[in-house]
Amino acid sequence: MKTLYKKSLLRLSDYTNKEIIYLIKLSKFLKKQKYNKKENKYIKGKNIVLIFEKESTRTRCAFEIAAYDQGANITYLGPNDTHIGYKESIQDSAKVLGKMYDAIQYRGHNDKIIKDFKKYSKIPVWNGLTDTFHPTQILADLLTIQEINPKKPLKEIKCAYVGDAQNNIANSLLEAANIIGLKMNIVAPKIYWPKKKFLFKKIKYIKKNKNIICTENIKEGVKNVDFIYTDVWVSMGEKKNIWEKKIKELYPYQINKKMLNMTNNKNIKILHCLPAFHDKKSILGYEIHNKFHIKDGLEITNDIFNSNINLSFKQSENRLHTIKALLVSCLSKKSFF
Ligand code: CP
Ligand code: NVA
Repeated sequence: MKTLYKKSLLRLSDYTNKEIIYLIKLSKFLKKQKYNKKENKYIKGKNIVLIFEKESTRTRCAFEIAAYDQGANITYLGPNDTHIGYKESIQDSAKVLGKMYDAIQYRGHNDKIIKDFKKYSKIPVWNGLTDTFHPTQILADLLTIQEINPKKPLKEIKCAYVGDAQNNIANSLLEAANIIGLKMNIVAPKIYWPKKKFLFKKIKYIKKNKNIICTENIKEGVKNVDFIYTDVWVSMGEKKNIWEKKIKELYPYQINKKMLNMTNNKNIKILHCLPAFHDKKSILGYEIHNKFHIKDGLEITNDIFNSNINLSFKQSENRLHTIKALLVSCLSKKSFF
């Protein structure tokens, strides 16, 4: 296949079904090379700048290690490190970075900013999470799903997404469902259903959406699915005072034993992009549990989070391998398959 040489990834629907499947295959290939300690360096000497306007553990580390493993160099720019956007426009900053680097990773708020980085830098730009999308996370999720079900094509997978279905993860999962054809049940109160533009608006590579349903009914939504996916109820950038309302409205959609019983699937698996609020062991987790008198986790109970049906740490590891495939494919002309 043609590589993704010089392509950006602002949202999953920038890529075709074929391109996404190619990236998953390449991720598996590179993961094997790393496991066998026989990694080739396909992007030696390339320079990548990582711009983070929001916090990150997984995404930043995955981009950094992927680059190091493949012989590329990175510069990390945190929220208070540069003139970008404050003393210098995005347009000017993008032109500067475009002359020095081979690619830009951007994590931030607004999708307009990432589009401007692409427009003015004229080098590949990858979305490491915005308010609206998180495409590199979904690449890792698809790899994880395929590793768990090696014999079942992705388009035959049935997944339920429970919780806040208006956030970046839900939007990107819907794009994946639309492009790849996997079944996606959105299970949430109606006010948290995805905005129609992600489901119905004509977007490049997105054609049909018959495989997506939205329901408030938990039993109907999780019955016979292979995976239940959830994410935090309050995303980065949202105001702290929204917690009370969201807890009240989303608590019935918590992943717990009762929900698992409704799936009718003894092999049910759980996906979560992380970080997760499942116990009191983080500062914010402690604060929220105490303030709202929560006993056992927010979007997922602690026992289920710590059980072997939870795949979130496998997803985390796969961030590295899928991001590596993205870097290799977009920065080298080599076609692997
Ligand atoms: N899942 C994810 O994007 O994690 P980080 O916020 O730690 O990068
Ligand atoms: N929806 C979450 C995802 C974190 C990886 C957020 O934006 O905070």
